[in-house]
Amino acid sequence: MSRPYVLLSAAVSIDGYLDTRPGEERLILSNAEDFDRVDSVRASVDAILVGAGTLRADNPRLLVNSEQRRAGRIADGLPEYPLKVTITGTGDLSPDWKFWHHGGEKLVLAVGNEASEKARANLGDLATIQGIPTDATWQTALDVLGQVYGIGRLMVEGGGTIHTQLLELALADELQLVIAPLLVGQSDAVRMFGPANYLGGPSARLQLLETRQIGDVVLLRYAPKDISTENR
Ligand SMILES: NC(=O)c1ccc[n+]([C@@H]2O[C@H](COP(=O)([O-])OP(=O)(O)OC[C@H]3O[C@@H](n4cnc5c(N)ncnc54)[C@H](OP(=O)(O)O)[C@@H]3O)[C@@H](O)[C@H]2O)c1
Repeated sequence: MSRPYVLLSAAVSIDGYLDTRPGEERLILSNAEDFDRVDSVRASVDAILVGAGTLRADNPRLLVNSEQRRAGRIADGLPEYPLKVTITGTGDLSPDWKFWHHGGEKLVLAVGNEASEKARANLGDLATIQGIPTDATWQTALDVLGQVYGIGRLMVEGGGTIHTQLLELALADELQLVIAPLLVGQSDAVRMFGPANYLGGPSARLQLLETRQIGDVVLLRYAPKDISTENR
């Protein structure tokens, strides 16, 4: 089975939050220089995945913003934009979201028959609806992305629910975590990682690949499958 290389990407506050409370205005964690770095990562992948929760909360367009980077993709024989992918278990997806109306082909991973039917009814021809079974969901989703859609590199841009699942299932090859100099301090705010049985348990240490200061934020790159219980 050829699955894509899975890269998780997110920005968090010092106290580990992805955002403020659900329903509040979106919290900007990163800075302009780091948004540009994220743009370059987007330009380097075959597909970008976000959970339906992030579409509902933020209504993002998920584009490669740099014209030069898009031109570079075309020169390399790639589509101008990466494939834009979301996952849903309900199919409750609004056709009004910006995601469907800006660059890139769109793919919905609809988990279970009901979600597939509802997503088709809601979206019509705005996106391809790909049914995914309710068991071994993520393993199947990655197999399908690799084999049916030819995705070699997948960037996952949140939110916390899907980051947590992919890490718990040890399906993430790389974690790019940006720490922003903010303290959210709200117990009911949106967390990056929820409770889970992570690979190796609480004492397992992920391999640190890189640290990089980007203005007032810090990028940490980890290899989450490469764990050790020894102090490095
Ligand atoms: N700081 C950052 O870098 C960053 C990045 C992204 C998002 N965020 C924040 O994260 C928050 C959203 O995160 P979230 O955790 O609520 O949502 P999420 O992870 O984006 O999406 C969760 C949704 O995805 C679908 N889903 C996930 N796993 C599934 C599975 N195994 N099977 C079927 N469907 C599945 C479900 O959709 P249905 O409900 O349709 O079934 C679920 O409700 C927002 O506040 C956003 O601002 C922050």
